[in-house]
Amino acid sequence: MLGVSGSVAAYKAIELCRLLMSEGARVLPVMTEAARRFVGEATFSALASEPVPAGLWTSVDPSPHTRLAREADMVVVAPATARLLGALANGICDDLLTAVLLATRAPVMVCPAMHTEMWENVAVMENAARLRSRGIVVLGPTSGPLAGGDEGLGRLVEPTAVLDAVRGILAGLHGAASDGTVARDGTVARDGTGSDGPATRDLAGVRVLISAGGTREPIDPVRYISNRSSGKQGYALAREATVRGADVVLVTAAEGMEPPVGSEVVAVETSREMERELMARCQDADVVVMAAAVADFRPARIQAQKISKADGVPDMALEATPDILSELVEVRRPGQVIVGFAAETHDVVPRARMKMAAKRVDLMVANDVSVPGAGFGHDTNAVEIIAADGASTSVPMTTKAAVARAVFDSVVDCLAKSSKESAARGKDPAKSSKEEF
Ligand code: PMT
Repeated sequence: MLGVSGSVAAYKAIELCRLLMSEGARVLPVMTEAARRFVGEATFSALASEPVPAGLWTSVDPSPHTRLAREADMVVVAPATARLLGALANGICDDLLTAVLLATRAPVMVCPAMHTEMWENVAVMENAARLRSRGIVVLGPTSGPLAGGDEGLGRLVEPTAVLDAVRGILAGLHGAASDGTVARDGTVARDGTGSDGPATRDLAGVRVLISAGGTREPIDPVRYISNRSSGKQGYALAREATVRGADVVLVTAAEGMEPPVGSEVVAVETSREMERELMARCQDADVVVMAAAVADFRPARIQAQKISKADGVPDMALEATPDILSELVEVRRPGQVIVGFAAETHDVVPRARMKMAAKRVDLMVANDVSVPGAGFGHDTNAVEIIAADGASTSVPMTTKAAVARAVFDSVVDCLAKSSKESAARGKDPAKSSKEEF
């Protein structure tokens, strides 16, 4: 179901409707009174799978809200105004769209659009946070040109980004890969990973900090030392956590990757920058996942000018970079779950276990990067997830999305365990909001 509320960005919902239809989705459009002032009802009725219903009281259908609420596999509101967010956060239903939102059991995603001042108003921020904590995906807003010639944060995310997020959420719902495609019958293609069952919103309200990509350590203005990490595994982790309802911050050194929808993305280049950005954010996180391939060494001195070939092969001293994972563990707050990755080419599991003991993480993901198709740069991976009690879960060759799913299944177990332990000690769980943890 595509809900459209009254913002000038309502014109973008027409493109979103078209994109969803072209993916084979059945689109049920619902417009608020204010949305009808911005775009014509006839446009949506012509493009969508059925005409826009007249309204809660004027529809020929005696109970349009319950019919739509039950028929929808997913409800998307784009654009979502401040009024819409406020109504949904407070359980108010005074028109057809808000009534459907209250009545539906399908996953809901809202895409806010409004002026910066309105978005930054504490009431709106609180409403958005409340929606997130209930497992509703709040996608955007983004920055850019706004109505009336203004510029800033508050712009509706692009329809293609909304479509990506819909795909991701439906893929999770149907147990398929997060990059699964929506088939013509509205179901989602499975990726053959054997992961079945409905998507859970078991990370709703959990704050997750993820690192991705290989850091680049400059030698001079044109050269650097790096490694083969593409960032694909870290980005898959970010997508998976978002689909499961987490608030995700992704600190990434990866280049040329499409930002994962719904994550706050912090771009870095060097290990020093990655250290700074992660350490600044780790106290706000319930879960930290270090999938980045941080360079272990960097040039001790960065040359200010390009080293000339004419001067011969440079004598380059290296120094160790900070061990960010160990620093994160050092300042770990109670209840926080920390996950490390161990990229190895031999004696993989024993070496990963040794790293786990040295770094004192809750989970270590042993990644045999010598296996063809696994590790650096591939779309697929195969790992062994080792828990602190020594138990391990084998994830044979599959997509990076499916590996991400298995990692977060283990993270959820750790959060539940840590919550039980803090409850036994009579303390508040460190987890931010979800009661069962
Ligand atoms: O990015 P892709 O192409 O998708 O590839 C994915 C991957 C192979 C990079 C990923 O799955 C992976 O294994 N990441 C960890 C790579 C790595 O640096 O492993 P390590 O064994 O050298 O480091 C152990 C842990 O310490 C890692 O969590 C790493 O992030 C962390 N570390 C390492 C060095 C350092 N200076 N600081 C750190 O925090």
